[in-house]
Amino acid sequence: MKNFNYNVSTRILFGRGKINEIGKEVKKYGDKVLIVYGKGSVKRNGLFDVIINNLREYGIYVYELDNIDPNPRIDSVYKGAEICRKEGVKLILAVGGGSVIDCSKAIAAQANYCGDIWQDLYVEQKLQDLKSVLPVASVLTLAATGSEMNGNSVISNMHTNQKLAIGHDLLRPVFSILDPEYTFTVNQYHTAAGIVDILSHLFEQYFTPDHDGYLQNRMMEAMMKTVIEYGPIAYQELNNYEARANLMWTSSLALNGMVTYGKVSTDWATHGMEHELSAFYDITHGVGLGILTPYWMKYVLSKDTVHRFVEYARNVWNLSGNDEIELANLAIEKTREFFTSIGIPSTLEEVGIDGSKLEEMAEQATMFGALGCMKKLYKEDVLAIYKMAL
Ligand code: NZQ
Ligand code: ZN
Repeated sequence: MKNFNYNVSTRILFGRGKINEIGKEVKKYGDKVLIVYGKGSVKRNGLFDVIINNLREYGIYVYELDNIDPNPRIDSVYKGAEICRKEGVKLILAVGGGSVIDCSKAIAAQANYCGDIWQDLYVEQKLQDLKSVLPVASVLTLAATGSEMNGNSVISNMHTNQKLAIGHDLLRPVFSILDPEYTFTVNQYHTAAGIVDILSHLFEQYFTPDHDGYLQNRMMEAMMKTVIEYGPIAYQELNNYEARANLMWTSSLALNGMVTYGKVSTDWATHGMEHELSAFYDITHGVGLGILTPYWMKYVLSKDTVHRFVEYARNVWNLSGNDEIELANLAIEKTREFFTSIGIPSTLEEVGIDGSKLEEMAEQATMFGALGCMKKLYKEDVLAIYKMAL
């Protein structure tokens, strides 16, 4: 196991009714808050009013930035940072899914930054230049990204067809409220996309060619089994509290860093390939991952990587047999069947992506170098996987 400094600093308030603690928590940071939200779901399900009323009781002054897109745009970030600077905002409160939270983190960074964070941090990755940010907190409304408990932010620039990520401990939310009841209104499509995203985060950290990380891999198998158990229940019964609660807590634990502290490596190739699909075609992140993952698995399966697929087959899908490659292939099929059972398409064509930009996307996906560690994926490999997925 590698050395590590454990830091999962976000305070979590989990469960029914926890939203009523929002005013008390926000007040600790001051009395001017910028609430950031998406295209109206939080107004339609009543959450927004509950928050506003509670904040008023504590005498907190509220500014608003709405209309954040899924695959949030850098233009919204500049708008939010401007409000923070002008009004002296003390805390940014993201109310929504990963897009809203990621956008809020970027606003928090830009508000205290002299230059342009898009160019310096997202494009050039000069993360050492980020010295201070406004505090961010979140009220999570969709179980998927883990953004509520990590320091990552993924932002799109539609002018340049780029979707880029940064990760910094300063960007971890100071607190997040996770009330599963506020995820009841997430429709089947976004519920399924969230389920795939959670699983994909686990796959990216689980599928590594080394033989280390025994403890971490067992923790991840438990989380995968939880998603496989409760995902289809939430998909069928949108109001099932236990299913929503299990998905919500797994989404946070799957990508807050905990399961990879000490692991020798992680992969993240599928996310790298998917971000190009979203950058060029603005498709839903989890749907893109669901299409690509089984093709990626097939592509990276070899005698050097089969051991991890065998563990996956036996410990997650309870498959048995002695032929290792056969077991691995069965587990890959199970993965595809699971995605299909919750309505995830299996080809790019089904989401309107044809072959015309695959080469350009493969080029851009590998612009910082080869992707992944199960097998290093160069431009030709990424292109081959995109073509398998057509
Ligand atoms: O905009 P509104 O009206 O709020 O509707 C949203 C949006 O249309 C809706 N929604 C959210 N909560 C709802 C709800 N509808 C009804 N009831 C509710 N309670 O769901 C739609 C999708 O929301 P979005 O925030 O885009 O989804 P998600 O949480 O999957 O976030 C996706 C973004 O996060 C990035 C993705 O690339 C993508 O840009 N990621 C962020 C990561 C991170 N920060 O660690 C890691 C991930 O791998 C991912 O890349
Ligand atoms: Zn993801």
